[in-house]
Amino acid sequence: MEPLRVVVIDDEANTCTFLKAVFEAEGHGCHTFLRAEEAEQYVANNQVDLVMVDMYLGALNGIDLLQRLRALRPNAYPIIMTANVSVETAARALSEGAVDYVSKPLTAEQMRAIAARADGFRLQQRQPVVPDIPEPSDSAIIGRSPKMLEVYKAIGRVAASNVSVLITGASGTGKELVARAIHQHSKRKDGPFTPVNCGSFTETLLESELFGHEKGAFTGAASAHLGLVEASDGGTLFLDEITETTLSFQVKLLRVIQEQQVRRVGSNKYTPIDVRMLAASNRDMGSLLKQNQFREDLYYRLAVVRIDLPPLEERRDDIPLLVRHFLRRFNEKNGLGVTIDPAAVHLLQQMRWPGNVRELENTVNRLAIFAPTGEITLPDVEAETQRTPEGEEAAVLVAAAPDRLMELERQHILEILKQTGGNRSEAARRLGIERKTLYRKALRLGIDLQATGDK
Ligand SMILES: Nc1ncnc2c1ncn2[C@@H]1O[C@H](COP(=O)(O)OP(=O)(O)OP(=O)(O)O)[C@@H](O)[C@H]1O
Ligand SMILES: [Mg+2]
Repeated sequence: MEPLRVVVIDDEANTCTFLKAVFEAEGHGCHTFLRAEEAEQYVANNQVDLVMVDMYLGALNGIDLLQRLRALRPNAYPIIMTANVSVETAARALSEGAVDYVSKPLTAEQMRAIAARADGFRLQQRQPVVPDIPEPSDSAIIGRSPKMLEVYKAIGRVAASNVSVLITGASGTGKELVARAIHQHSKRKDGPFTPVNCGSFTETLLESELFGHEKGAFTGAASAHLGLVEASDGGTLFLDEITETTLSFQVKLLRVIQEQQVRRVGSNKYTPIDVRMLAASNRDMGSLLKQNQFREDLYYRLAVVRIDLPPLEERRDDIPLLVRHFLRRFNEKNGLGVTIDPAAVHLLQQMRWPGNVRELENTVNRLAIFAPTGEITLPDVEAETQRTPEGEEAAVLVAAAPDRLMELERQHILEILKQTGGNRSEAARRLGIERKTLYRKALRLGIDLQATGDK
């Protein structure tokens, strides 16, 4: 390891002396300070790789000092030290800028581990940024799987025209992202893009939201109101959760689309509109149409082109790309350099994702928040597979990695053996497997059938 340039700030001279001695014995450079002002001055003028600040510096708050030092040297690995370890202090330190949190007194061994983490952090900061490839923006659609290529092609084909598009797909598959992409790539891109969640309004409210109303059109309509359709003139209206609307609303919407004009509630005047309609649904259109819960005529108006977004589990190859994308975004937002172990990415790729890309995004953010050492590791992800709320045990089982599945199976068999007092025939029966299958499984899972009693 290249020597680290360490700065320690602690109002106890003993701590300073000890840390300096150990770091120097390990070949690092170490400057210690009993007072904040001198430390700040030093850090302003010198490169630093690791900053260790005591949480309570007499009257001074160590976290505040650490934040100031980080502003001066964003590449230094920031650690808060404290003799009073608690969840509260840890949470505060980590949420307010420390990347690492350690308890005092430190041993030489702990300090070597800290140095290794700081070294890893330093290496990350030095990773060259590839200059030619622009960083994907917030609205970028990530994925190179064949199914996503089909989606891109569809977006490309429809964007330039004015046709209505119905975007379908399970929750969290990226429907809104696709709608935005269509707008972005259309001639209307400088006009407004207006998403409306049709599911969150009653019929009357939705009507007045979309079409507007005149003053006094209904009780509570104290003033005239411009509807979102008119407000989106020259742009795109995105009707999300379109299947949550009533049949009578669907008739009214159909008329607006057909006639390209809108009439505010309580008015007899029609205003011509120039709005492109995009709609989305996460329901099964086919069965809604069959059960007459969605009007066929509106369906054909909206679904001139239909884009179906595949569930994430049908494009697992994209998961590593998505994970890196979300992690990069997290790091940018928080000024951190959290990395992820390839083994952890691999496990994320195997898991079940009923909430699709949105769930993956939330999981990556959560993992990153709880990775104070700056790396998301395999055990972190394994813990995540068990975090699911109660009652979703079955889902967790499938979500689990092969190793974890084996462990669960092992525990299950042991439990049944316990219940049957070690009776193997009975255990096999309860497990729904043959006796010799039980033997084979026991061997593979390292279960000692002898030890569980011979009956
Ligand atoms: N291919 C993708 N690349 C990058 N980010 C994605 C992708 N797909 C989805 N996301 C992200 O996942 C989240 C959910 O996407 P979006 O809101 O578009 O899904 P949705 O299908 O509209 O979900 P819902 O039905 O729950 O409203 C967003 O934060 C979005 O940025
Ligand atoms: Mg959505």
